[in-house]
Amino acid sequence: MNDEDDMTIEKTILCIGAGYVGGPTMAMIAAQCPGCRVTVVDINPARIAAWNSDNLPIYEPGLDELVRAARGRNLFFSTEIERGIRENEIIFVSVNTPTKTFGLGAGMAADLQYWEKTARQILEFSDSSKIVIEKSTLPVKTALAMERILNCRDNGIRFDVLSNPEFLAEGTAVRDLEHPDRILIGSRETDNGLKARQTLVDIYASWVPTGKILTSNIWSSELSKLVSNAFLAQRISSINAISALCEKADADVVEVSRAVGMDSRIGPKFLNASIGFGGSCFRKDILNLVYLCRNYGLDAVADYWESVVQINDYQQERFIRNMLGAMFNTLTGKRICLWGFAFKANTGDTRESPAIFIARRLLEEQAEIVVSDPKALENARADLVDAKGQIRYVEDPLLAAEGCHAIALLTEWEIYRSLDFPKIFESMAKPAFIFDGRNILDHRRCFEIGFNVYPVGKPPLTHF
Ligand code: UDX
Ligand code: UDX
Repeated sequence: MNDEDDMTIEKTILCIGAGYVGGPTMAMIAAQCPGCRVTVVDINPARIAAWNSDNLPIYEPGLDELVRAARGRNLFFSTEIERGIRENEIIFVSVNTPTKTFGLGAGMAADLQYWEKTARQILEFSDSSKIVIEKSTLPVKTALAMERILNCRDNGIRFDVLSNPEFLAEGTAVRDLEHPDRILIGSRETDNGLKARQTLVDIYASWVPTGKILTSNIWSSELSKLVSNAFLAQRISSINAISALCEKADADVVEVSRAVGMDSRIGPKFLNASIGFGGSCFRKDILNLVYLCRNYGLDAVADYWESVVQINDYQQERFIRNMLGAMFNTLTGKRICLWGFAFKANTGDTRESPAIFIARRLLEEQAEIVVSDPKALENARADLVDAKGQIRYVEDPLLAAEGCHAIALLTEWEIYRSLDFPKIFESMAKPAFIFDGRNILDHRRCFEIGFNVYPVGKPPLTHF
């Protein structure tokens, strides 16, 4: 008899899509609800093999322990999508919904092909009624399309569609899943819709306080996810816009954001000036929102949100221009070390990382680059595969900086704060520059060691 037979299975759950969202979310549900049997399926066999190994396909603090505790007990990873659909009563859909790269809405709208293919698979292989949950971020009214596809056959099988967007942030996924600010569940407000909603509320209530489980109509839930990401990104673009002004006005953006953030109506979070936001969600979701607004003829609203993305592009280009200006207007043949390539600390993910743009711009300026990152070098190699010859990849930040003219700090990894800066300075070409794109270093100390230091949104400290 195995462990599985020991337990009474109360609910059977399937998740289609074993990515950054599907994998950790299902691991948390399995860990918190021993009575649920959770299976995660994916079309990518290599990904599933990795989830079943000691080397998980994504890096998240605390994830290894979480998966190890539940895997083989009530958490399973498999490529058997059809069987998964047949055998489970609750199905989360967490496949990717990238920005469309072709046809109408290219560069703006969400590409829904994987999502629709998945809906059709669910229809094809279901021989009993199911609750289908949108976990992927989708344009408003997608649930309606899903309902229409799923309920197009009159064979007595019911599909209730729920929206349950995920708000976890990478790097803190396990903590966010365990202690979420809120869980949002949207449903149709019919008897069946409300019953399906309650089933999902009961699952989350195993570990989330009921006051934090929010229910709403299905369209509000879909929209709230896009709006949450748009608001977060807007704060970053707001402070980044101000960082440009601070550099001109001899103000210090860290002091400004502290002063502004202490207003309890504004709050201190997400006010760190940077090289701009990255990650798979912010840009995609804002452009999706913009496309939606234009579609409804709300051009002024669309323009407003589009400017959040424009400021982000501006901030990245500004970083390059500042480097060029500081380094005597030429980077040709100079060697520049990039500290960090992930879009934020504590993840190996490089999707939409500002580092990709900055690396490409530096190559355009004919600089040589050395990329360093504790977790993201494999992804960095794939992102820059077309530029092989001009780039070196060196994990150790000290070795990476050796012989370089400048260091550009692009990801706020904790390890960069406490390196042996006098030794690094000694090993570099002179004059040596540091461009701190995250404002995490001790600028005064680096300056005293001999570096010319260029933070974001603060006066530079230079020896000229
Ligand atoms: C995804 C969506 O992109 C995002 O909009 C949503 O908010 C959460 O889910 P993420 O988990 O980061 O985000 O995506 P990704 O890591 O790319 O994982 C998606 C997985 O779905 C991949 O492993 C892919 O192989 C799988 N997939 C894709 C399928 O199993 N079937 C498909 O038809 C397409
Ligand atoms: C985001 C949302 O936070 C999360 O709720 C949603 O589910 C998915 O999208 P994520 O992209 O994983 O999560 O990371 P997040 O911490 O939001 O950071 C996004 C980007 O903004 C990173 O590049 C980060 O470095 C940058 N950032 C964040 C800043 O530049 N300044 C800040 O003050 C905060």
